[in-house]
Amino acid sequence: MLDKLRRWNKKENNESFTKEAVKSKPIPKHIAIIMDGNGRWASKRALPRVAGHHEGMKVVKKITKLASELGVEVLTLYAFSTENWKRPKQEVEYLMKLPEEFLGTFLPELIEQNVKVQMMGNPEEIPKHTRSAVEKAMEKTKENTGLILNFALNYGSRDEITQAVKYIIKDVQNGKLTEEGISEELLSEYLMTSSLQDPDLLIRTSGEHRLSNFMLWQLAYTEFWFTDVLWPDFSEEELIQAIGEFQMRGRRYGGI
Ligand code: FPP
Repeated sequence: MLDKLRRWNKKENNESFTKEAVKSKPIPKHIAIIMDGNGRWASKRALPRVAGHHEGMKVVKKITKLASELGVEVLTLYAFSTENWKRPKQEVEYLMKLPEEFLGTFLPELIEQNVKVQMMGNPEEIPKHTRSAVEKAMEKTKENTGLILNFALNYGSRDEITQAVKYIIKDVQNGKLTEEGISEELLSEYLMTSSLQDPDLLIRTSGEHRLSNFMLWQLAYTEFWFTDVLWPDFSEEELIQAIGEFQMRGRRYGGI
């Protein structure tokens, strides 16, 4: 109850939104989420950190379903960063098993919801079993026309931009590109998000206010929404609140 009251007090304009209210206004087309706080959620319960990741996986299912129902076009989830390899071996191994478990359990439901699974990140260092699970899901859902569920897996924005610069240099050297042809639009085409629009809304849970090397280029004009709620506690109610507050903001893209 106290938690709820604290959350209520933090709401912009103290307004609480309903699913029906947010559905009646334009829904953000692309929502990106930094799912943070799994470890703290587990520690608070004297559980191993991986228990928090497991609970967090269940939340992914709930939030994907709601996003799909609301008509969100793309949901990008930061599941594993290029920096997360620094974690203890056991935790890394557990995190690398989660996509398999998630897709093994929920793929039929995702297919039923017309969800298309995608991945962005550097696939080379990802264990084969993880990659195959994701690739299989991508293959099975490639014709789906509903929500794109885009997992950022072994993803780092600086790595992505560095790789894009290397590809551009190669294409200049082999004559496919000229220096004059290099523009913001062209650079976007060399990023891992080339087929996606930039996120409209970024959500980060757990009270941290930083980007942690996530979509640095793509978030240039994105609206940010932060919550103290830890990812395993993130509910449909919070997603609706984030969208409701997003709908009240004025986006000017540098204009007036
Ligand atoms: C950050 O919390 C979370 C992660 C590094 C992993 C996120 C992964 C999931 C939520 C599950 C992914 C599910 C699928 C389907 C791939 P943290 O561990 O840094 O938390 P802390 O800051 O409290 O320690």
